[in-house]
Amino acid sequence: MKKGDVNESFPFPFKENEYIYRYSNNSIPLKKSKCVEITSTYSQEIKLKRDLLNKYPTRCYQSLPYSKKAQWEIVELIIENLITYYPQYFEVKKNGSNWNFHNKLLDEKQEFIMGDHTSLPIEPLDFIGRHVQEDLILMMQRDANLYLDAGQLCFPANWSLAFDIGMNFQEIHYPIPGFKEAGLDQRILQFLLQLEPGNPWGRKNWSLMAGNRLDTSLETFDQWGKGRKLVTKKNAGKLVHLRVEVQTLSRLSRSNGILFTIHTHLLALEELANKREWLESFYRILKELPPYIVDYKGLSLFKDAVIDYLKDRLESGADLDA
Ligand code: HEM
Repeated sequence: MKKGDVNESFPFPFKENEYIYRYSNNSIPLKKSKCVEITSTYSQEIKLKRDLLNKYPTRCYQSLPYSKKAQWEIVELIIENLITYYPQYFEVKKNGSNWNFHNKLLDEKQEFIMGDHTSLPIEPLDFIGRHVQEDLILMMQRDANLYLDAGQLCFPANWSLAFDIGMNFQEIHYPIPGFKEAGLDQRILQFLLQLEPGNPWGRKNWSLMAGNRLDTSLETFDQWGKGRKLVTKKNAGKLVHLRVEVQTLSRLSRSNGILFTIHTHLLALEELANKREWLESFYRILKELPPYIVDYKGLSLFKDAVIDYLKDRLESGADLDA
């Protein structure tokens, strides 16, 4: 990458001049009803997703039996999104309930009968998830709560779908320090219960990753966790990546469930540091990050090396684009 040639499409998660980070309800209404995005890494990520799904089916896919109707609603919502925003890549021909879906990027066609589970070789959510880069989670609403009733999750940030399946919103967020104590779990749940069809919301979540792996599941921690011990000020620019999840939340009108999508992006720190506003803001956020968040995000072992690297880049202002 050339000097100053930062990936402009990277979803940097902090606002301009934001120097403090705390947990909060940072959701915002989306301007467009768009819950999936196709990027330049589409083909390689879809291949990786499908490999993981084939090798580790229970780690990457879980569903409870009564989730099928809502799964079909997700198929419909995502296909409508794909043909609306990417008509050059996706097409669907409908004849009553008979749908013929064409993914031109992969040169694949799939015929099915909308709502008929026997018309697809795999479950509906598993099928449509294999055509988008996002991980897809179905939360169903009952008894004034949301339950994780189905999901396709190939690129988790250190959590386990097989462990979380069937849990409610507070149980899922239980490991986050201070979340329950600050009443955030209840407040965010109340906000989610009021989501309306056609008005999706989005948010970004971030962490730092020693390496550039997308599959950082709890189950594979032994493979990627040890990278944290290898970080030095010298190698941090290439080795450490800012990992950002672009998340969307869409109400499903018929089942009253919520589709939660997670699109994971990685950016090497040396690229991030090419953009002065990002470098300044991220450096100060990292310096000010409360210890309980440092621990929870798994940064304790390498945060200081990263701060030293960012400080050096800040001081050698000649390398910056502005
Ligand atoms: C409804 C769909 C959602 C699901 C399925 C979900 C799931 C999760 C999971 C599995 C984790 C990791 C927990 C662990 O350590 O085991 C997490 C973390 C978190 N979630 Fe959610 N979440 C959802 C919505 C939200 C919303 C709407 C917010 C805030 C507005 C939120 C805020 C957070 C925060 C702050 C963390 C900690 C992340 C970090 O510091 O890295 N979540 N979520």
